[in-house]
Amino acid sequence: MTSKKQGKESRKLDFSTGWDYAPAPQSSADITLAKRYKHFINGKFVAPANGKYFSTINPATARPLAKVAAGNARDIDKAVKAARAAYRNVWSKMAPAERGKYLFRVARIIQERSREFAVIESLDGGKPIRESRDVDIPLVAAHFFYNAGWADKLNYAFPTRSVKPVGVAGQIIPWNFPLLMAAWKIAPALACGNTVVLKPAETTPLTAMKLAEVMQDADLPPGVVNIVTGAGDTGAALVQHPDVDKIAFTGSTQVGKQIQRQLAGTGKRYSLELGGKAANIVFADAAIDQAVEGIVNGIFFNQGHVCCAGSRLLVQESVAEEVIRKLKDRMETLIVGDPLDKNTDIGAINSKEQLERINAYLKIGAEEGVQVYQSSCAVPDTGFWCRPTLFTGVAQSNRVVQEEIFGPVLAVQTFRTVNEAIAKSNNTPYGLSGGVWTDKGAKIFKVTRDIRAGVIWANTFNKFDPTSPFGGYKESGIGREGGLHGLEPYVTLN
Ligand code: NAI
Ligand code: MG
Repeated sequence: MTSKKQGKESRKLDFSTGWDYAPAPQSSADITLAKRYKHFINGKFVAPANGKYFSTINPATARPLAKVAAGNARDIDKAVKAARAAYRNVWSKMAPAERGKYLFRVARIIQERSREFAVIESLDGGKPIRESRDVDIPLVAAHFFYNAGWADKLNYAFPTRSVKPVGVAGQIIPWNFPLLMAAWKIAPALACGNTVVLKPAETTPLTAMKLAEVMQDADLPPGVVNIVTGAGDTGAALVQHPDVDKIAFTGSTQVGKQIQRQLAGTGKRYSLELGGKAANIVFADAAIDQAVEGIVNGIFFNQGHVCCAGSRLLVQESVAEEVIRKLKDRMETLIVGDPLDKNTDIGAINSKEQLERINAYLKIGAEEGVQVYQSSCAVPDTGFWCRPTLFTGVAQSNRVVQEEIFGPVLAVQTFRTVNEAIAKSNNTPYGLSGGVWTDKGAKIFKVTRDIRAGVIWANTFNKFDPTSPFGGYKESGIGREGGLHGLEPYVTLN
Protein backbone atom coordinates (compact mmCIF):
# COMPACT_ATOMS: atom_id res chain seq x y z
CA MET A 1 0.00 0.00 0.00
CA THR A 2 2.98 2.28 0.25
CA SER A 3 2.94 4.68 -2.63
CA LYS A 4 6.21 4.68 -4.53
CA LYS A 5 5.42 8.13 -5.72
CA GLN A 6 5.51 9.52 -2.22
CA GLY A 7 8.88 7.92 -1.56
CA LYS A 8 10.26 9.63 -4.64
CA GLU A 9 8.70 12.93 -3.66
CA SER A 10 10.50 12.99 -0.35
CA ARG A 11 13.78 12.19 -2.13
CA LYS A 12 13.35 15.27 -4.29
CA LEU A 13 14.07 17.44 -1.26
CA ASP A 14 16.96 19.79 -1.59
CA PHE A 15 18.53 19.61 1.85
CA SER A 16 20.61 22.57 2.88
CA THR A 17 22.89 20.06 4.59
CA GLY A 18 23.47 18.31 1.30
CA TRP A 19 22.23 15.00 2.76
CA ASP A 20 19.80 12.75 1.04
CA TYR A 21 17.97 9.68 2.22
CA ALA A 22 17.00 6.65 0.20
CA PRO A 23 13.38 5.66 0.72
CA ALA A 24 12.96 3.33 3.71
CA PRO A 25 9.32 2.27 3.56
CA GLN A 26 7.84 0.07 6.27
CA SER A 27 6.05 -2.73 4.46
CA SER A 28 2.31 -2.91 4.81
CA ALA A 29 2.12 -6.12 2.79
CA ASP A 30 1.21 -8.32 5.77
CA ILE A 31 -1.56 -6.03 7.03
CA THR A 32 -5.01 -7.46 6.62
CA LEU A 33 -7.93 -5.10 6.81
CA ALA A 34 -11.50 -6.25 6.42
CA LYS A 35 -13.63 -4.48 3.82
CA ARG A 36 -16.08 -3.48 6.54
CA TYR A 37 -16.00 -3.28 10.31
CA LYS A 38 -19.15 -3.69 12.39
CA HIS A 39 -19.62 -2.42 15.95
CA PHE A 40 -18.12 -4.50 18.75
CA ILE A 41 -20.94 -5.10 21.24
CA ASN A 42 -21.19 -7.76 23.94
CA GLY A 43 -18.08 -9.55 22.66
CA LYS A 44 -19.33 -9.86 19.06
CA PHE A 45 -19.15 -7.86 15.86
CA VAL A 46 -22.66 -6.54 15.29
CA ALA A 47 -24.11 -4.83 12.19
CA PRO A 48 -25.26 -1.22 12.70
CA ALA A 49 -28.97 -0.74 13.43
CA ASN A 50 -29.52 1.43 10.35
CA GLY A 51 -27.31 -0.76 8.12
CA LYS A 52 -25.11 2.22 7.24
CA TYR A 53 -21.32 2.29 6.90
CA PHE A 54 -18.84 5.04 6.06
CA SER A 55 -15.28 5.00 4.69
CA THR A 56 -12.12 5.76 6.55
CA ILE A 57 -9.37 6.95 4.24
CA ASN A 58 -5.60 6.99 4.21
CA PRO A 59 -4.91 10.75 4.39
CA ALA A 60 -1.56 10.26 2.62
CA THR A 61 -3.30 9.03 -0.53
CA ALA A 62 -6.90 10.22 0.04
CA ARG A 63 -7.96 6.65 -0.83
CA PRO A 64 -10.37 4.56 1.28
CA LEU A 65 -8.92 1.82 3.50
CA ALA A 66 -12.09 0.21 4.85
CA LYS A 67 -15.66 0.93 5.80
CA VAL A 68 -16.85 1.16 9.39
CA ALA A 69 -20.32 1.09 10.89
CA ALA A 70 -22.17 4.38 11.37
CA GLY A 71 -23.57 4.13 14.88
CA ASN A 72 -26.83 5.72 15.99
CA ALA A 73 -28.68 5.97 19.30
CA ARG A 74 -29.97 2.40 18.97
CA ASP A 75 -26.45 1.00 18.61
CA ILE A 76 -25.32 3.07 21.58
CA ASP A 77 -28.26 1.78 23.62
CA LYS A 78 -27.38 -1.82 22.77
CA ALA A 79 -23.76 -1.23 23.77
CA VAL A 80 -24.69 0.51 27.03
CA LYS A 81 -27.06 -2.34 27.94
CA ALA A 82 -24.27 -4.88 27.28
CA ALA A 83 -21.86 -2.82 29.37
CA ARG A 84 -24.39 -2.53 32.21
CA ALA A 85 -25.07 -6.29 32.28
CA ALA A 86 -21.34 -7.10 32.19
CA TYR A 87 -20.74 -4.59 34.96
CA ARG A 88 -23.48 -5.92 37.19
CA ASN A 89 -23.05 -9.64 36.61
CA VAL A 90 -19.37 -10.16 35.91
CA TRP A 91 -16.79 -7.41 36.04
CA SER A 92 -17.60 -5.57 39.28
CA LYS A 93 -17.92 -8.93 41.04
CA MET A 94 -14.70 -10.44 39.76
CA ALA A 95 -11.74 -10.70 42.13
CA PRO A 96 -9.54 -7.66 41.37
CA ALA A 97 -6.47 -9.85 40.76
CA GLU A 98 -8.44 -11.68 38.04
CA ARG A 99 -9.35 -8.38 36.37
CA GLY A 100 -5.67 -7.53 36.42
CA LYS A 101 -4.82 -10.78 34.63
CA TYR A 102 -7.05 -9.83 31.69
CA LEU A 103 -5.36 -6.46 31.40
CA PHE A 104 -1.89 -8.03 31.51
CA ARG A 105 -3.01 -10.37 28.75
CA VAL A 106 -4.27 -7.49 26.60
CA ALA A 107 -0.94 -5.67 27.14
CA ARG A 108 1.07 -8.71 26.07
CA ILE A 109 -1.01 -9.32 22.93
CA ILE A 110 -0.57 -5.67 21.93
CA GLN A 111 3.18 -6.02 22.37
CA GLU A 112 3.18 -9.13 20.20
CA ARG A 113 1.19 -7.37 17.47
CA SER A 114 2.86 -3.99 17.89
CA ARG A 115 4.25 -3.71 14.35
CA GLU A 116 0.85 -4.42 12.82
CA PHE A 117 -0.82 -1.85 15.06
CA ALA A 118 1.83 0.77 14.23
CA VAL A 119 1.37 0.33 10.49
CA ILE A 120 -2.43 0.53 10.70
CA GLU A 121 -2.20 3.64 12.89
CA SER A 122 0.00 5.33 10.29
CA LEU A 123 -2.16 4.21 7.37
CA ASP A 124 -5.43 5.39 8.92
CA GLY A 125 -4.26 8.61 10.57
CA GLY A 126 -1.23 9.78 8.55
CA LYS A 127 1.26 9.92 11.40
CA PRO A 128 4.88 8.94 10.70
CA ILE A 129 5.65 5.26 11.34
CA ARG A 130 8.56 6.37 13.52
CA GLU A 131 6.09 7.88 15.94
CA SER A 132 3.44 5.15 15.88
CA ARG A 133 6.16 2.47 16.19
CA ASP A 134 8.32 4.15 18.85
CA VAL A 135 5.81 6.22 20.81
CA ASP A 136 2.14 5.33 20.38
CA ILE A 137 2.10 1.54 20.47
CA PRO A 138 4.77 1.02 23.17
CA LEU A 139 2.84 3.49 25.35
CA VAL A 140 -0.43 1.66 24.65
CA ALA A 141 1.08 -1.57 26.01
CA ALA A 142 2.66 0.34 28.90
CA HIS A 143 -0.70 1.83 29.93
CA PHE A 144 -2.33 -1.60 30.01
CA PHE A 145 0.61 -3.05 32.00
CA TYR A 146 0.62 -0.14 34.44
CA ASN A 147 -3.11 -0.17 35.13
CA ALA A 148 -3.17 -3.98 35.29
CA GLY A 149 -0.84 -3.63 38.24
CA TRP A 150 -3.29 -1.36 40.08
CA ALA A 151 -6.31 -3.66 39.71
CA ASP A 152 -5.67 -5.55 42.96
CA LYS A 153 -3.92 -2.69 44.76
CA LEU A 154 -6.65 -0.04 44.82
CA ASN A 155 -6.70 -0.14 48.60
CA TYR A 156 -3.07 0.94 48.53
CA ALA A 157 -3.80 3.61 45.92
CA PHE A 158 -6.49 5.06 48.21
CA PRO A 159 -5.51 3.99 51.74
CA THR A 160 -8.14 4.15 54.50
CA ARG A 161 -10.92 4.59 51.90
CA SER A 162 -13.45 2.14 50.60
CA VAL A 163 -12.97 1.95 46.82
CA LYS A 164 -15.82 1.12 44.44
CA PRO A 165 -16.14 1.34 40.65
CA VAL A 166 -18.36 4.04 39.11
CA GLY A 167 -20.27 1.78 36.69
CA VAL A 168 -20.56 2.19 32.92
CA ALA A 169 -18.14 4.67 31.34
CA GLY A 170 -18.79 6.33 27.96
CA GLN A 171 -15.49 7.25 26.35
CA ILE A 172 -15.06 9.50 23.31
CA ILE A 173 -11.64 9.85 21.73
CA PRO A 174 -9.93 11.91 19.00
CA TRP A 175 -7.85 11.09 15.93
CA ASN A 176 -4.41 12.32 16.89
CA PHE A 177 -3.39 9.34 19.07
CA PRO A 178 -6.19 6.89 18.28
CA LEU A 179 -5.08 3.70 20.02
CA LEU A 180 -3.19 5.50 22.76
CA MET A 181 -6.29 7.51 23.71
CA ALA A 182 -8.29 4.26 23.73
CA ALA A 183 -5.70 2.75 26.12
CA TRP A 184 -5.64 5.86 28.36
CA LYS A 185 -9.38 5.50 28.74
CA ILE A 186 -10.05 1.76 28.77
CA ALA A 187 -7.14 0.55 30.94
CA PRO A 188 -7.84 2.56 34.14
CA ALA A 189 -11.61 2.12 33.76
CA LEU A 190 -11.32 -1.67 33.61
CA ALA A 191 -8.67 -1.87 36.33
CA CYS A 192 -11.08 -0.11 38.71
CA GLY A 193 -13.96 -2.48 37.86
CA ASN A 194 -15.95 -0.37 35.37
CA THR A 195 -17.17 -1.44 31.95
CA VAL A 196 -16.96 0.81 28.89
CA VAL A 197 -18.50 1.95 25.64
CA LEU A 198 -15.83 3.55 23.46
CA LYS A 199 -16.52 5.85 20.50
CA PRO A 200 -13.40 6.24 18.31
CA ALA A 201 -12.87 9.23 16.03
CA GLU A 202 -14.48 8.95 12.59
CA THR A 203 -11.21 9.42 10.67
CA THR A 204 -9.19 6.85 12.66
CA PRO A 205 -11.38 3.94 13.79
CA LEU A 206 -9.27 1.02 12.53
CA THR A 207 -6.88 0.35 15.42
CA ALA A 208 -9.85 0.44 17.80
CA MET A 209 -11.49 -2.32 15.75
CA LYS A 210 -8.21 -4.28 15.90
CA LEU A 211 -8.25 -3.70 19.66
CA ALA A 212 -11.68 -5.35 19.70
CA GLU A 213 -10.01 -8.44 18.20
CA VAL A 214 -7.42 -8.31 20.98
CA MET A 215 -10.21 -8.22 23.57
CA GLN A 216 -11.67 -11.35 21.99
CA ASP A 217 -8.28 -13.07 21.89
CA ALA A 218 -7.78 -12.22 25.56
CA ASP A 219 -11.15 -13.87 26.36
CA LEU A 220 -12.35 -10.68 28.01
CA PRO A 221 -15.90 -11.36 29.25
CA PRO A 222 -18.49 -10.10 26.70
CA GLY A 223 -19.76 -6.57 27.32
CA VAL A 224 -16.80 -5.34 29.39
CA VAL A 225 -15.49 -3.37 26.39
CA ASN A 226 -17.88 -2.25 23.64
CA ILE A 227 -16.85 -0.14 20.66
CA VAL A 228 -19.35 1.81 18.58
CA THR A 229 -18.02 3.72 15.57
CA GLY A 230 -19.49 6.87 14.07
CA ALA A 231 -19.13 10.64 13.99
CA GLY A 232 -20.13 13.43 16.39
CA ASP A 233 -23.81 12.44 16.55
CA THR A 234 -22.81 8.94 17.72
CA GLY A 235 -20.67 10.56 20.44
CA ALA A 236 -23.58 12.82 21.40
CA ALA A 237 -25.90 9.80 21.74
CA LEU A 238 -23.41 8.26 24.16
CA VAL A 239 -23.19 11.47 26.21
CA GLN A 240 -26.98 11.65 26.39
CA HIS A 241 -27.64 8.02 27.24
CA PRO A 242 -29.33 7.96 30.67
CA ASP A 243 -27.62 4.77 31.86
CA VAL A 244 -24.04 5.97 31.45
CA ASP A 245 -22.44 6.89 34.79
CA LYS A 246 -19.39 8.71 33.54
CA ILE A 247 -18.16 10.40 30.36
CA ALA A 248 -14.48 10.69 29.47
CA PHE A 249 -13.79 12.92 26.47
CA THR A 250 -10.66 14.01 24.62
CA GLY A 251 -11.05 16.43 21.72
CA SER A 252 -11.81 20.04 20.90
CA THR A 253 -12.59 22.62 23.57
CA GLN A 254 -15.76 23.50 21.67
CA VAL A 255 -17.23 19.98 21.92
CA GLY A 256 -15.89 19.65 25.48
CA LYS A 257 -17.88 22.71 26.55
CA GLN A 258 -20.97 21.36 24.80
CA ILE A 259 -20.65 18.06 26.70
CA GLN A 260 -20.17 19.93 29.97
CA ARG A 261 -23.39 21.89 29.33
CA GLN A 262 -25.30 18.73 28.43
CA LEU A 263 -24.17 16.93 31.57
CA ALA A 264 -24.84 19.81 33.98
CA GLY A 265 -27.32 18.68 36.57
CA THR A 266 -27.48 15.05 35.41
CA GLY A 267 -25.23 13.73 38.18
CA LYS A 268 -23.05 11.98 35.59
CA ARG A 269 -19.37 12.32 36.22
CA TYR A 270 -17.05 13.59 33.51
CA SER A 271 -13.43 14.26 32.68
CA LEU A 272 -12.41 16.41 29.71
CA GLU A 273 -9.04 16.67 28.01
CA LEU A 274 -9.25 19.53 25.53
CA GLY A 275 -7.08 21.88 23.53
CA GLY A 276 -3.83 23.63 24.29
CA LYS A 277 -1.52 26.44 23.20
CA ALA A 278 1.67 25.52 25.02
CA ALA A 279 4.73 27.74 25.05
CA ASN A 280 8.31 26.58 25.02
CA ILE A 281 10.30 29.17 26.96
CA VAL A 282 13.95 29.38 25.93
CA PHE A 283 16.27 31.37 28.19
CA ALA A 284 19.58 32.76 26.97
CA ASP A 285 21.49 30.34 29.22
CA ALA A 286 19.85 27.26 27.65
CA ALA A 287 21.70 24.68 25.57
CA ILE A 288 20.47 26.23 22.32
CA ASP A 289 20.94 23.29 19.96
CA GLN A 290 19.07 20.95 22.29
CA ALA A 291 16.34 23.56 22.72
CA VAL A 292 15.93 23.88 18.94
CA GLU A 293 15.60 20.11 18.65
CA GLY A 294 13.04 20.12 21.48
CA ILE A 295 11.02 22.86 19.80
CA VAL A 296 11.03 20.95 16.50
CA ASN A 297 9.94 17.78 18.28
CA GLY A 298 7.27 19.71 20.17
CA ILE A 299 5.46 21.21 17.18
CA PHE A 300 6.54 19.72 13.85
CA PHE A 301 6.75 15.98 14.44
CA ASN A 302 3.34 14.37 14.16
CA GLN A 303 2.17 17.39 12.12
CA GLY A 304 1.47 19.39 15.28
CA HIS A 305 -1.53 17.10 15.85
CA VAL A 306 -0.83 17.09 19.57
CA CYS A 307 -2.98 18.80 22.19
CA CYS A 308 0.11 19.48 24.32
CA ALA A 309 2.18 20.60 21.29
CA GLY A 310 4.63 23.45 21.88
CA SER A 311 2.81 25.67 19.40
CA ARG A 312 4.31 28.87 20.81
CA LEU A 313 7.95 29.74 21.28
CA LEU A 314 8.98 32.38 23.79
CA VAL A 315 12.65 33.11 23.33
CA GLN A 316 14.80 35.50 25.35
CA GLU A 317 15.64 38.54 23.26
CA SER A 318 19.44 38.18 23.37
CA VAL A 319 19.35 34.74 21.71
CA ALA A 320 16.24 35.20 19.55
CA GLU A 321 18.15 35.74 16.32
CA GLU A 322 20.33 32.67 16.85
CA VAL A 323 17.40 30.45 17.83
CA ILE A 324 15.26 31.52 14.87
CA ARG A 325 18.17 31.05 12.44
CA LYS A 326 18.90 27.56 13.78
CA LEU A 327 15.21 26.72 13.76
CA LYS A 328 14.87 27.69 10.10
CA ASP A 329 17.97 25.64 9.21
CA ARG A 330 16.53 22.63 11.02
CA MET A 331 13.11 23.11 9.41
CA GLU A 332 14.76 22.84 5.99
CA THR A 333 15.99 19.35 6.85
CA LEU A 334 12.58 18.02 7.95
CA ILE A 335 11.14 15.40 5.65
CA VAL A 336 7.46 15.76 4.83
CA GLY A 337 5.90 12.79 3.07
CA ASP A 338 4.97 9.13 3.14
CA PRO A 339 4.00 8.29 6.74
CA LEU A 340 5.22 4.72 6.26
CA ASP A 341 8.74 5.84 5.37
CA LYS A 342 10.99 5.44 8.42
CA ASN A 343 12.79 8.71 7.62
CA THR A 344 9.63 10.81 7.57
CA ASP A 345 9.39 13.54 10.20
CA ILE A 346 6.05 15.05 9.22
CA GLY A 347 3.35 12.79 7.82
CA ALA A 348 -0.03 13.60 6.34
CA ILE A 349 -2.50 16.02 7.89
CA ASN A 350 -5.22 13.80 9.34
CA SER A 351 -8.11 14.94 7.15
CA LYS A 352 -9.14 17.41 4.49
CA GLU A 353 -11.16 19.28 7.14
CA GLN A 354 -8.13 19.60 9.42
CA LEU A 355 -5.96 20.82 6.52
CA GLU A 356 -8.60 23.42 5.73
CA ARG A 357 -8.57 24.55 9.37
CA ILE A 358 -4.79 24.90 9.32
CA ASN A 359 -4.85 26.75 5.99
CA ALA A 360 -7.48 29.10 7.38
CA TYR A 361 -5.06 29.98 10.21
CA LEU A 362 -2.22 30.54 7.71
CA LYS A 363 -4.50 33.07 6.05
CA ILE A 364 -5.50 34.64 9.37
CA GLY A 365 -1.79 34.99 10.25
CA ALA A 366 -1.09 36.76 6.96
CA GLU A 367 -4.10 39.03 7.50
CA GLU A 368 -2.92 39.85 11.02
CA GLY A 369 0.33 41.04 9.47
CA VAL A 370 2.68 38.46 10.96
CA GLN A 371 5.71 37.23 9.01
CA VAL A 372 5.25 33.74 7.64
CA TYR A 373 8.18 31.44 6.94
CA GLN A 374 7.71 27.99 5.44
CA SER A 375 10.26 25.30 4.73
CA SER A 376 10.93 24.89 1.01
CA CYS A 377 10.37 21.12 0.98
CA ALA A 378 8.39 19.31 -1.67
CA VAL A 379 5.15 17.64 -0.69
CA PRO A 380 3.35 14.78 -2.46
CA ASP A 381 0.69 15.64 -5.05
CA THR A 382 -2.13 13.60 -3.54
CA GLY A 383 -3.24 13.50 0.09
CA PHE A 384 -3.18 16.26 2.72
CA TRP A 385 0.08 18.02 3.60
CA CYS A 386 1.37 21.10 5.32
CA ARG A 387 4.94 22.37 5.29
CA PRO A 388 6.45 23.31 8.65
CA THR A 389 5.64 26.96 9.23
CA LEU A 390 6.94 29.76 11.47
CA PHE A 391 5.08 32.91 12.41
CA THR A 392 7.34 35.72 13.62
CA GLY A 393 6.57 39.31 14.50
CA VAL A 394 3.40 38.23 16.28
CA ALA A 395 1.54 40.11 19.02
CA GLN A 396 0.09 38.47 22.11
CA SER A 397 -3.40 39.41 20.95
CA ASN A 398 -3.06 37.77 17.51
CA ARG A 399 -5.44 34.89 16.91
CA VAL A 400 -2.53 32.72 15.82
CA VAL A 401 -1.06 33.19 19.33
CA GLN A 402 -4.33 32.68 21.22
CA GLU A 403 -6.05 29.86 19.33
CA GLU A 404 -5.20 26.21 18.82
CA ILE A 405 -4.17 25.53 15.20
CA PHE A 406 -3.36 21.81 15.53
CA GLY A 407 -0.90 21.81 12.66
CA PRO A 408 2.89 22.16 12.12
CA VAL A 409 2.74 25.90 12.77
CA LEU A 410 4.83 27.70 15.39
CA ALA A 411 4.28 31.27 16.62
CA VAL A 412 7.45 32.95 17.90
CA GLN A 413 7.60 35.77 20.46
CA THR A 414 10.44 37.26 22.47
CA PHE A 415 10.77 38.28 26.14
CA ARG A 416 13.33 39.98 28.38
CA THR A 417 12.59 38.88 31.95
CA VAL A 418 11.43 35.70 33.65
CA ASN A 419 8.21 37.39 34.72
CA GLU A 420 7.46 38.58 31.20
CA ALA A 421 7.92 35.02 29.93
CA ILE A 422 5.55 33.68 32.58
CA ALA A 423 2.93 36.37 31.92
CA LYS A 424 2.99 35.75 28.17
CA SER A 425 2.95 31.99 28.62
CA ASN A 426 -0.15 32.21 30.83
CA ASN A 427 -1.92 34.66 28.53
CA THR A 428 -4.14 32.28 26.51
CA PRO A 429 -7.42 30.56 27.44
CA TYR A 430 -5.53 27.25 27.68
CA GLY A 431 -3.33 25.57 30.27
CA LEU A 432 -2.40 22.08 29.19
CA SER A 433 1.38 22.00 28.97
CA GLY A 434 4.57 24.00 28.68
CA GLY A 435 8.32 23.75 28.33
CA VAL A 436 11.27 25.56 29.88
CA TRP A 437 14.84 25.51 28.60
CA THR A 438 17.54 26.85 30.90
CA ASP A 439 20.77 25.92 32.60
CA LYS A 440 19.49 27.17 35.96
CA GLY A 441 17.45 24.96 38.29
CA ALA A 442 16.08 28.01 40.12
CA LYS A 443 14.49 29.30 36.89
CA ILE A 444 12.94 25.90 36.27
CA PHE A 445 11.34 25.91 39.72
CA LYS A 446 10.08 29.49 39.36
CA VAL A 447 8.60 28.93 35.89
CA THR A 448 7.02 25.55 36.65
CA ARG A 449 5.43 26.99 39.79
CA ASP A 450 4.00 30.09 38.14
CA ILE A 451 2.74 28.67 34.87
CA ARG A 452 -0.80 27.36 35.03
CA ALA A 453 -0.45 24.19 33.01
CA GLY A 454 -0.95 20.52 33.83
CA VAL A 455 2.43 19.35 32.53
CA ILE A 456 5.64 21.33 32.18
CA TRP A 457 8.75 19.75 30.74
CA ALA A 458 12.20 21.08 31.63
CA ASN A 459 14.94 20.80 28.99
CA THR A 460 12.86 18.26 27.10
CA PHE A 461 9.38 18.13 25.57
CA ASN A 462 6.52 15.73 24.82
CA LYS A 463 7.77 12.94 27.04
CA PHE A 464 5.14 10.53 28.34
CA ASP A 465 4.96 7.80 30.91
CA PRO A 466 1.91 5.91 32.21
CA THR A 467 2.88 6.66 35.82
CA SER A 468 2.65 10.41 35.24
CA PRO A 469 -0.67 12.28 35.41
CA PHE A 470 -1.74 14.42 32.44
CA GLY A 471 -4.49 17.02 32.10
CA GLY A 472 -5.30 20.69 31.90
CA TYR A 473 -6.16 23.93 33.63
CA LYS A 474 -8.61 26.56 32.36
CA GLU A 475 -10.12 25.71 28.95
CA SER A 476 -7.79 22.74 28.52
CA GLY A 477 -10.11 20.59 30.56
CA ILE A 478 -10.84 18.99 33.87
CA GLY A 479 -9.59 15.79 35.48
CA ARG A 480 -6.35 13.86 35.08
CA GLU A 481 -5.41 10.77 33.11
CA GLY A 482 -2.42 8.55 33.82
CA GLY A 483 -0.71 7.70 37.08
CA LEU A 484 -2.49 7.32 40.37
CA HIS A 485 -4.51 10.47 39.61
CA GLY A 486 -5.84 8.78 36.48
CA LEU A 487 -7.64 6.18 38.59
CA GLU A 488 -9.68 8.79 40.46
CA PRO A 489 -12.23 9.46 37.70
CA TYR A 490 -13.05 5.74 37.72
CA VAL A 491 -13.60 5.13 41.43
CA THR A 492 -16.10 6.13 44.08
CA LEU A 493 -14.38 6.72 47.40
CA ASN A 494 -16.07 6.49 50.77
P1 NAI B 1 -13.88 16.99 17.86
O1 NAI B 1 -13.81 17.50 19.24
O2 NAI B 1 -15.08 17.32 17.03
O3 NAI B 1 -13.76 15.38 17.85
C1 NAI B 1 -13.25 14.60 18.91
C2 NAI B 1 -14.17 13.41 19.15
O4 NAI B 1 -15.44 13.87 19.63
C3 NAI B 1 -14.48 12.57 17.91
O5 NAI B 1 -14.59 11.22 18.29
C4 NAI B 1 -15.85 13.11 17.48
O6 NAI B 1 -16.60 12.20 16.73
C5 NAI B 1 -16.50 13.37 18.81
N1 NAI B 1 -17.57 14.38 18.80
C6 NAI B 1 -17.76 15.41 17.93
N2 NAI B 1 -18.85 16.11 18.27
C7 NAI B 1 -19.38 15.52 19.37
C8 NAI B 1 -20.50 15.80 20.19
N3 NAI B 1 -21.31 16.84 19.95
N4 NAI B 1 -20.74 15.00 21.25
C9 NAI B 1 -19.93 13.97 21.53
N5 NAI B 1 -18.85 13.65 20.77
C10 NAI B 1 -18.57 14.42 19.71
O7 NAI B 1 -12.57 17.46 17.11
P2 NAI B 1 -12.32 17.65 15.54
O8 NAI B 1 -13.50 18.29 14.89
O9 NAI B 1 -11.89 16.36 14.98
O10 NAI B 1 -11.09 18.67 15.54
C11 NAI B 1 -11.34 20.05 15.72
C12 NAI B 1 -10.23 20.70 16.51
O11 NAI B 1 -10.22 20.15 17.81
C13 NAI B 1 -8.84 20.48 16.00
O12 NAI B 1 -8.49 21.40 15.03
C14 NAI B 1 -8.03 20.65 17.25
O13 NAI B 1 -7.77 22.02 17.48
C15 NAI B 1 -8.93 20.13 18.34
N6 NAI B 1 -8.61 18.76 18.75
C16 NAI B 1 -8.02 18.56 19.95
C17 NAI B 1 -7.65 17.29 20.34
C18 NAI B 1 -6.98 17.05 21.64
O14 NAI B 1 -6.28 16.05 21.76
N7 NAI B 1 -7.20 17.86 22.65
C19 NAI B 1 -7.87 16.14 19.48
C20 NAI B 1 -8.57 16.43 18.24
C21 NAI B 1 -8.89 17.71 17.91
MG1 MG C 1 -8.53 7.38 8.26
